[in-house]
Amino acid sequence: MASAYAVLPLALSALICARLLINWLRLRKAPGPVLAGSTDLWRAYQQYNGRLRNAICDLHALHGPIVRYGVRSISISDPEVISVVYGSRAGFTTAHSYDVLIGIQNGKEVPSLVSTRDEARHAALRRSVANSFTPTAVLDYESSIDATIGELLAAVDKKATFDLSSMILWYTMDAAARFSFGEPLGCLAAEGDVGGSIQLIRDRFNHWGRWSSLPVFERLIYRNPIAMRLKRAPSSMAAAALSKLKSRSLTSIQAQPDLLQKFLNASRDNPRVLDTHGIIGMLMSTISGAGDTTATTIVATLYQLLQHPPELEKVEAELVGLPEVLPAFSDVSKLPYLNAVIKESMRVFPSSTFPIERLVPQGGVTIAGMHFPAGTSIGCLPSAMHRNTKIYGEDAHIFRPERWLTPDKEQLRLMEATHMGFSRGRRVCLGQHVAMMSMKKVIASILLKYKLSLLDPNGMLDLDFSPAVACLKSLYVTKQAKY
Ligand code: HEM
Repeated sequence: MASAYAVLPLALSALICARLLINWLRLRKAPGPVLAGSTDLWRAYQQYNGRLRNAICDLHALHGPIVRYGVRSISISDPEVISVVYGSRAGFTTAHSYDVLIGIQNGKEVPSLVSTRDEARHAALRRSVANSFTPTAVLDYESSIDATIGELLAAVDKKATFDLSSMILWYTMDAAARFSFGEPLGCLAAEGDVGGSIQLIRDRFNHWGRWSSLPVFERLIYRNPIAMRLKRAPSSMAAAALSKLKSRSLTSIQAQPDLLQKFLNASRDNPRVLDTHGIIGMLMSTISGAGDTTATTIVATLYQLLQHPPELEKVEAELVGLPEVLPAFSDVSKLPYLNAVIKESMRVFPSSTFPIERLVPQGGVTIAGMHFPAGTSIGCLPSAMHRNTKIYGEDAHIFRPERWLTPDKEQLRLMEATHMGFSRGRRVCLGQHVAMMSMKKVIASILLKYKLSLLDPNGMLDLDFSPAVACLKSLYVTKQAKY
C-alpha cells in the first residue's frame, strides 16, 4: 500500500513531463522560452500580468522575426507574412483565442462579427454592412461627432485640472452611441460610466485577454451546460439599442442616417444574413470596438505631443486659420502633419496586447524556411511589427512623425504596408474611417481651444495591457483656454 502511494505521484509526474516534452517538441525549431513551448500557462501568466506584449517584443529582439510564445503559438515580425496570414488566398482562419469572446444568450453561443470563426459567415455579415463604413458613408456621422465634441469642450471648460483618459473615453463612448443609434450614453453629461457600459466592455476585453491563452479551460468553466443555462440579462447598452430598434419603423428615413438606420436597410436587403439579433450584435460590436481603442489613440497622441513641444508647435501651425471650435472634417482630413502624428502615435502605441492570431490551414505552411503544421497559430503583434528597424529605421523606438513625410515613395509604401494599428486583410478594422474622423476632429478642436500640460511633468502614460485591448489608466492634465 505504501509503495502505491509513492508510485502514483511518480507516474503522474512522469506523465506530465512527457506531455510537456511532447508539447515542446511540436515546434522545437522556433526559438522561445522552453516553458512557453511546453505549456500555455506561460503565455497566460504573462498576459494576466499585462506583460505578454513586451515579452514577445523582447523575444523578437533576442531571436529575430520568428518566435514561439505558446505550445502552438508563433509570433512573426517580418512584414512579408502579413498578406499571407491575413489575406484570403492562403486559407488561414481565425484562431481559437477568439472563442472566448463569443457571447452567450439564452443558453446559446452567439458569435459576433469579431468572434465568429466561420469565415464564410464573417464574409457575408461583413459584406452586408460594409457600405455603412466607407469613407463617404462615415460623413453621415460627422454631426454626431460634432455634437459630442461640443459636450466634451463644455465639460473641459468647467475644469482647471482633469483626468484626460476618462474625459476622452466618455467622449468616444458617447460619440459611438450617438452615431450608432442616435443617442449618447450620457457619460460626458454625468462625467461617469452611465449604466456601467464602459465597465461591461472592459470586462469583456479582460475576459478575452485573460482566457485567450486557455480557450479549452474557458469552455469548461464558462460554457458547460450549467453555466450556459444561467440567465444573462441583456446589458443596459444592448437594452438601449434594442428599444431604439423597436421604435424605428423599417421604412422610416432619416435626414442624417445613423448606423442603426443603415443596418435596418441592410437587413431589409439581406434578412437571412442580418436579422434583429445580428443588428443588435453589430451595434454592440461597433460601440465596443470604438470606445477604448479610439480613446487610447487620442490620449496617446496628445500625450506624445505634450512630450514633444516642437512637434506640437508644428501641428498647431497647421491648424492656424481653421475655425476655433469644431473644424469640419473636410478642413482637417488632409492636414499632412496631423495625419503623420496620428499614424506615428498608433505605430508607437498600438492597442492590441497580443498577436492577431490566425490558424495555419491544412497542409501546413513554410515561412522563412520553417515549416508550421496545420493548426499552428501564427500571429503578428503590431508592437513587434512596428519596431522593425529594417522598415522604420534605427529610430523605430521613438516618436518621430516626420518619418511619414518622407518623399521616398517606396519607403512610404513599405511603412504603410507594415502598419498594423487597424489590423490588416479580411478582418481589418471596419470602423477605421470613423475612427480617423473622430480622432482628427477632436484632437484639432482640443489643440485649437486649449493649452494642455501634464499635471506631473514626469508623468507617464500608463495602460493596462492584460485585457485584449490596452485600456488607459488616469492621466491628469491642467488646461488654459487659448481664447
Ligand atoms: C483608433 C481606433 C481603433 C483601433 C486602433 C482599432 C483597431 C482594430 C483592430 C486591431 C481590429 C482587429 C481585431 C482582431 O481581429 O483581433 C479591429 C476590428 C474591428 N473594429 Fe476597430 N479599431 C478602432 C476603432 C474602431 C471604431 C471607431 C469602430 C466602429 C465604428 C471599430 C469597429 C471594429 C469592428 C466592427 C471590428 C471587427 C472587424 C471584423 O472582424 O471584420 N473600430 N479594430
